[in-house]
Amino acid sequence: MGYAKNPDCELVAIASRTAEHAKTAAEKFFVPKVYVGDNTWEKMVDEQDLDIISICTPNYLHAPIVLKAIEKNCHILCEKPIAISREELTHIESELASKNLIFFTSFSKRYNPIFKLIKNVIEEDILGKITSIRYLFSHYGPYKSWNARSVEKWFIDSKKAGGGVLLDLGVHCIDILRHLFGEYDKVNGINYNTSCINMEDEDNCNVLFRFKNDILGLINVSWCNEPSETLDIFGTKGFIKVDISGRSPLSFGPKSLKRNKKIKDLLEFKPTDESNQNKLIDHFINCIQTKKQESPNFDDGKKAVEFVIEAYSFKI
Ligand SMILES: NC(=O)c1ccc[n+]([C@@H]2O[C@H](COP(=O)([O-])OP(=O)(O)OC[C@H]3O[C@@H](n4cnc5c(N)ncnc54)[C@H](OP(=O)(O)O)[C@@H]3O)[C@@H](O)[C@H]2O)c1
Repeated sequence: MGYAKNPDCELVAIASRTAEHAKTAAEKFFVPKVYVGDNTWEKMVDEQDLDIISICTPNYLHAPIVLKAIEKNCHILCEKPIAISREELTHIESELASKNLIFFTSFSKRYNPIFKLIKNVIEEDILGKITSIRYLFSHYGPYKSWNARSVEKWFIDSKKAGGGVLLDLGVHCIDILRHLFGEYDKVNGINYNTSCINMEDEDNCNVLFRFKNDILGLINVSWCNEPSETLDIFGTKGFIKVDISGRSPLSFGPKSLKRNKKIKDLLEFKPTDESNQNKLIDHFINCIQTKKQESPNFDDGKKAVEFVIEAYSFKI
């Protein structure tokens, strides 16, 4: 959708596994060429003279398609997680190093304006020194909370997904937290279970970790709970508890903070229908046009996957 809306883009080809889905998308977005089948994405990249490849396939296909795109000198927008192993990350990094390509990781959450308002609060030192944060993110999981497009239930297939809810939702959380609070230092431990979905990997997970600036972090993600996304931030001078959807009122303390302009901006935040994904695509296109690599880049995608892999190393 974002590409179709951007006046500087022309959609030239689409590759999908099933004919029906490829045709529907091609008709909706006026894409002239369609490739159908398991490995036709490779044929598409070879045959077409593409400037950009946008990857929104199941996780296990991200790295192979990224590598092919780099070989053909295409700029890349890749869905999260950008890879499912350290080996894939290293391979992509080394291939990218010799090329001048724009790589964006599809961390669309960054474009939710509420995070800018939260960042303003943190940067103005309103809460004092930040001591700890909690990011809680849940819904009922794939095939329940939304209807996945492909018939194949790859989200709950370990080999194709590369992990469970932590790899799916946790990468968003750690990316936002790095964006707001700086680099994380290390993961201190996790606990997890598989409580509502018949799958090998976790559908509930807590990760305890620490930032380089000493802030303590907790990420709690679930595919088994009521849809909810909240970020609690505690500092030496106060705290805020934010509903990221903007539907519940901000909770904060001490009450005197309500006089602060940045807190007022957060209190007055109203969610809109604007698509974060479209904003990300416009940003990506602008970076290609101006030849500037900005975030969310390859390194952001890599750090998020590394965080999850480090957390998984605590699994017994
Ligand atoms: N950034 C975000 O917030 C966000 C949100 C949602 C999803 N995602 C990510 O996006 C990716 C896709 O998720 P989804 O929910 O869209 O999954 P999905 O509904 O299962 O869709 C997967 C798509 O990949 C296609 N596909 C599968 N195998 C293929 C192959 N060999 N060649 C070409 N196309 C192939 C499928 O085509 P057919 O339908 O024709 O089989 C389908 O269109 C995942 O990595 C997910 O983590 C990110």
